[in-house]
Amino acid sequence: MVEKTLLFHLSDIHFGLEHNRALDWVAAEIASRNPAAVAITGDLTMRARRKEFAAAKEWILSLDVPVTVEVGNHDMPYFNPFARFFTPYARFKGMAQLVEKELQLPGIAIVPLKTAVRAQPRFNWSKGWVTGPALQKCLDAIDGLPEGTRSLVVCHHPLREVGTQGTALTKNGGKALERLARRGDKVLAVLSGHVHDAFDITEPTESGPVRMIGAGTLSQRLRSSPPSFNELTWDGEELCVTVRNLQNVSTKDMMIEDVPEDARPPRHPGDPVAPVGNVPRTDPPVR
Ligand SMILES: [Fe+2]
Ligand SMILES: [Fe+2]
Repeated sequence: MVEKTLLFHLSDIHFGLEHNRALDWVAAEIASRNPAAVAITGDLTMRARRKEFAAAKEWILSLDVPVTVEVGNHDMPYFNPFARFFTPYARFKGMAQLVEKELQLPGIAIVPLKTAVRAQPRFNWSKGWVTGPALQKCLDAIDGLPEGTRSLVVCHHPLREVGTQGTALTKNGGKALERLARRGDKVLAVLSGHVHDAFDITEPTESGPVRMIGAGTLSQRLRSSPPSFNELTWDGEELCVTVRNLQNVSTKDMMIEDVPEDARPPRHPGDPVAPVGNVPRTDPPVR
């Protein structure tokens, strides 16, 4: 019998506005189910405040399993432009070893792809950007995997590029997907966050389809579904996704059918306004 690999995909915990009951449940699930790895696809904090990072570090380091952490747009210094430009990752101190960390497991690897950047030549810096060096680093890591090892690419923003370069959810996302598609079945899926709702869709590219799997949020910043995380099982042939949540809503009902163009969740009363480098927010339609 083939041994299954169990992986947990968590995202958008947003310490500062985290969902404590859900987090206690997830920590207990990790302790009892003992997944081979936990991938956290960014937005650890609300506003990259030191106390939010301290809470994130305490929770993450308490997990007794391999963890890899992606950087989200909320994890860059928010109120301090100098720190944002010159030391954007300084506040990960104490867990920096987990940031954008590749994890190799038997037969499967988790390979990071950075999509959150400190600045970009458009108004909305909350959106993603796959830079040339970031994409090359990811592709090199995939190409360097041992023969037969499959990969899960992890990033914060879904690699969705609709509209113009200026409005795309993730600039160069389409190019990244096409390059990943060229790797054929070496790339099992791209795991992302940012949207705060779960999904599992197949995106066509010129070089073939790529599966994109999104995890929901473990924060109070809910979009259209309760707090959740994704449980992934890999049996050597099939990657199965279950959206776990405290309300026992079925995976099918937890998932949205497409990645929204504007992934911003509704404004929360605790959210500050007028962020540095971001356009003012307007609420998206209720879904
Ligand atoms: Fe988020
Ligand atoms: Fe985000």
